Amino acid sequence: MCCIVICCLVLDMCFIPIAGLYLHVVTEPELVVDISRGETLRINFDVTFPALPCSMLSLDAMDISGEQHLDVKHDIIKKRIDVHGNVIEARQVGIGAPKIETPLQRHGGRLEHNETYCGSCYGAEASDEDCCNSCEEVRESYQKKGWGLSNPDLIDQCKREGFLQRIKDEESEGCNIYGFLEVNKVAGNFHFAPGKSFQQLNMHVHDLLAFQKDSFNVSHKINRLAFGDYFPGVVNPLDGVQWTQQTTYGMYQYFIKVVPTVYTDINGHKIQSNQFSVTEHFKSDEVGRAQSLPEVFFFYDLSPIKVTFREQHVSFLHSFTLPILHFLFFSGDHHVLISSSEYL
Ligand SMILES: *[C@@H]1O[C@H](CO)[C@@H](O)[C@H](O)[C@H]1NC(C)=O
Ligand SMILES: *[C@@H]1O[C@H](CO)[C@@H](O)[C@H](O)[C@H]1NC(C)=O
Repeated sequence: MCCIVICCLVLDMCFIPIAGLYLHVVTEPELVVDISRGETLRINFDVTFPALPCSMLSLDAMDISGEQHLDVKHDIIKKRIDVHGNVIEARQVGIGAPKIETPLQRHGGRLEHNETYCGSCYGAEASDEDCCNSCEEVRESYQKKGWGLSNPDLIDQCKREGFLQRIKDEESEGCNIYGFLEVNKVAGNFHFAPGKSFQQLNMHVHDLLAFQKDSFNVSHKINRLAFGDYFPGVVNPLDGVQWTQQTTYGMYQYFIKVVPTVYTDINGHKIQSNQFSVTEHFKSDEVGRAQSLPEVFFFYDLSPIKVTFREQHVSFLHSFTLPILHFLFFSGDHHVLISSSEYL
């Protein structure tokens, strides 16, 4: 077998390490137009709000197709944390409302043993058969109607569940919220805010605006934000990022460009995921406008260009020619000698 052998003055020092490098697997990136259709995007998040209690914190998602998910609950866990950052309790969002005292029936009277419960929605029923069996459901019906719930202590469901008490109990606490959102693969946003939000005359309004507290603190730390699964070499630029709120009002915004990425390992196993880049902006309240609650927005948009990474073995010959080129071009004054000879 004929092969090229390099003789270099510093052969032992320079050639061997470089040859070793090129004999490894390399990952070749490639750019193509993303022609995939109808896929969904999974957003994995883990965010800590040290000064916003869990009972206040809600998560909404919206996309440009008009699909709205107000106060998302599926696949999301909230952890109550104290001022020192210790976890007090972890609960799946929307589950575990306490049931005390027999509830008031929609058509009057307390619930009897042989009846099924159907609570009043206090005027916000969508149809005659509609029931609101928890404070959460009353708030949701109000939200759907575009009404703000101003006095939850007048609502039987909320009174029974100690909704206001819960808010008071959690007063000085923080909240860690984590889980994932499955969204359409189109531009959209998701945001964290105190209280429930709803659309009213094309404006985004929150139901807690009307009662008590004059301000909320949405200082936060992003422990993790990823669009899709892990793959080798991925860097999620928001992991570990922290922001501290200085003023009473305003909105913190992240603008995210998502780049679809396919990683194919040496065995042909594919990981469909995404990378992203981000810019940040704090939008303070404009003078003369109605004050709004502070919020944290994540706006995302998708790149039409997809990156594919492919792990490849470098051929034996290839692994030799590259160092040779390297020597020819970079060896400078060194005496370089290339010769042909029998090699094994
Ligand atoms: C429930 O029980 C009460 C008294 O025992 C009775 O008057 C009423 O008709 C029952 N209601 C239903 C829905 O069965
Ligand atoms: C909000 O909370 C953070 C963390 O607890 C604190 O450092 C910051 O000063 C608070 N901001 C306001 C405006 O109260």
